[in-house]
Amino acid sequence: MQEMKHKSELVATTKLLKYVLIGLIAVLGLVCLYYGSSFAPGLRRVDDEAGVEDGVDPVFGSFVRNRVDFDDLFEDQERNPEVPKSIPVCDMRFSELIPCLDRNLIYQLKLKPNLTLMEHYERHCPLPERRYNCLVPPPVGYKIPIRWPASRDEVWKANIPHTHLAQEKSDQNWMIVNGDKINFPGGGTHFHDGADKYITAVARMLKFPGDKLNNGGNIRNVLDVGCGVASFGAYLLPLDIIAMSLAPNDVHENQIQFALERGIPSTLGVLGTKRLPYPSRSFEMAHCSRCRIDWLQRDGILLLELDRLLRPGGYFVYSSPEAYAQDAANRRIWNAMYDLLRRMCWRVVSRRDQTVIWAKSLSNSCYLKRVPGTHPAFVQL
Ligand SMILES: *[C@@H]1O[C@H](CO)[C@@H](O)[C@H](O)[C@H]1NC(C)=O
Repeated sequence: MQEMKHKSELVATTKLLKYVLIGLIAVLGLVCLYYGSSFAPGLRRVDDEAGVEDGVDPVFGSFVRNRVDFDDLFEDQERNPEVPKSIPVCDMRFSELIPCLDRNLIYQLKLKPNLTLMEHYERHCPLPERRYNCLVPPPVGYKIPIRWPASRDEVWKANIPHTHLAQEKSDQNWMIVNGDKINFPGGGTHFHDGADKYITAVARMLKFPGDKLNNGGNIRNVLDVGCGVASFGAYLLPLDIIAMSLAPNDVHENQIQFALERGIPSTLGVLGTKRLPYPSRSFEMAHCSRCRIDWLQRDGILLLELDRLLRPGGYFVYSSPEAYAQDAANRRIWNAMYDLLRRMCWRVVSRRDQTVIWAKSLSNSCYLKRVPGTHPAFVQL
């Protein structure tokens, strides 16, 4: 009898538990459905008052929730008559507009940049009245970009309709036009056989365990100056290294556009008269292969900028004819560079084939031993 009662009690409790569980699952399901519909790309969630006429995001295809921002803009018009009544679509000529890096503007404003100092690749922003207040149209035939990791090796040609670079660098495996796509075999001017082999060779020069450039997590951020289409950076990602790839909008037009279309972290920039917008000691390694930078200009101010950006003990990997070619001109540059970097307390840690690797001083002891009057002058602040 006692046992029977116990049993029925048990059954009741189990039933109760079952209902509570079912209820919980139902509530969770509803919550998921609600949030899912508002976050899932491709699912259009039309708000009560916002119509669909505002536009569709070209990348995600979902509704762009910018109605509020536009309203603010038009409200602002009463106070600020310069705000346009509507925003027109730009002429197709501006489909690749890069504000402040527009070469034509330099001519139009009759600026006289010092070409030796790369001032023409630095930012020059137009006055407000010369800025474009229009919506940039996508190129004809624009497609949703190919996703990472496939995008490392291929992008839609329609998205970056420039194939000039492919012809110019055809012997260096930078990129190959292949029907409606552009393929990136992973080559560069200095590494025709692929960035991966080159990266392994650099790790071997530094005697890192397993020839892995990330050296057990000690190399994390790399600055690649003169990066081309950023294949070096692309092949560092699987090694848990993030490279910021840097190149100007120079004669090899749109290198950075290709890098960004591939999904590789990169930005337009140049070592010139302005310091790069990164905090001091941001990178464990800087890299430059065939980057055509005159490191000796202005008493080595560009190397001093690399010194600022590198952490103590940081590496500078340099693969360029100056480091290996034996003709008089390159020998002279090499000797001057070697001497300059020695005075800056950097030391050569490895030199093999066409590459030399320097390391910045790990401590202040070398700085303190410098003979007063040594150039470049270090000032005690
Ligand atoms: C450009 O800069 C270099 C290096 O400072 C200088 O020698 C040269 O005179 C400058 N050129 C012009 C046109 O100002």
